[in-house]
Amino acid sequence: MTFAQFCHRISAPLLIATSCLATTAYADFPDKAITLVVPFSAGGPTDKIARDIAESMRKTLKQTVVVDNTVGAGGTIGTARVARATPDGYTLLVHHTGLSTAGLLYKNLGYKPDDLEFLGLINEAPSTLIAKPNLPAKDFAEFRKYVAENKDMNMANAGVGSASHLCSLMLQDALKTQMTFVPYKGTAPAMTDLMGGQVDVMCEQATNATPQIEAKKVKVYGITSLKRATAPALAQIPTLNESGLKGFNFSVWHGLYAPKGTPPEVLSKLNTALRNALKDPELVKRQEALGIAVIVDGRQTPQEHKKFFNAEVARWSKVFSEAGIQPE
Ligand code: MLT
Repeated sequence: MTFAQFCHRISAPLLIATSCLATTAYADFPDKAITLVVPFSAGGPTDKIARDIAESMRKTLKQTVVVDNTVGAGGTIGTARVARATPDGYTLLVHHTGLSTAGLLYKNLGYKPDDLEFLGLINEAPSTLIAKPNLPAKDFAEFRKYVAENKDMNMANAGVGSASHLCSLMLQDALKTQMTFVPYKGTAPAMTDLMGGQVDVMCEQATNATPQIEAKKVKVYGITSLKRATAPALAQIPTLNESGLKGFNFSVWHGLYAPKGTPPEVLSKLNTALRNALKDPELVKRQEALGIAVIVDGRQTPQEHKKFFNAEVARWSKVFSEAGIQPE
């Protein structure tokens, strides 16, 4: 028997044995705590959404899901950490719209989107245009006039490519104005400075803005999505589109990711835990109270998540080229 004949003869049983071994190898996954990396500061909207989904995914995974904040550079540092992590399913990433724009805004990213496995979309959150409590404008019309007359205003965001930054870019383009951007490691610390009057304006996701709007600790000039926010505290707030910024439409989606090369058996278990979490009535109630819609339209599957992501990259690429925004 030649070596080739020997290999051919044992290939089938070897292949079956190998695939059985592989499947067995992950049969106990997860058998230890899972780390869920959030690329922004604790207490911000991304962090809050991650902690919320971690709590519900734990019910399916029967393991602790620990949220770990790795901040900086508009979320790209935390993302690079997950892209380089061991692909064993124990290091995951929650990120938002900014993942689709990072490659359009940064010349040197520590990762490529293809370094990640897409596990499914989590939700879509409206954003709000808010300001320090003592900004003189009482509504969006007055805000628009104030911005035109005061050329020294600043806007807080969570770094280049953050959701707050993307919204600010769109707002400045629509208002034909330039404000000084003040970057933070997340919108939680930015919110503290906004409430204290250290910065003037911010686009902030409803997740984080709703309590401060309700407590009247910030001024609110509009909802940035085309549709009004559904949270009771936000339902009466007009959208920017209604207030004259025709067609203005910005909302933030969040997704779940693992490092490329994570075994399919593990990806499937993680996606099942995500889909179960999105059907968890307690999670849905918590998210809806903040005006957030959890994803139930099929984009909570890896295939549809990836397709949606690619469409978002194309959409933002067009927005940036029309606004003359180049990678730095
Ligand atoms: C963002 O602006 O990208 C996020 O809202 C930042 C955060 O979650 O802190």
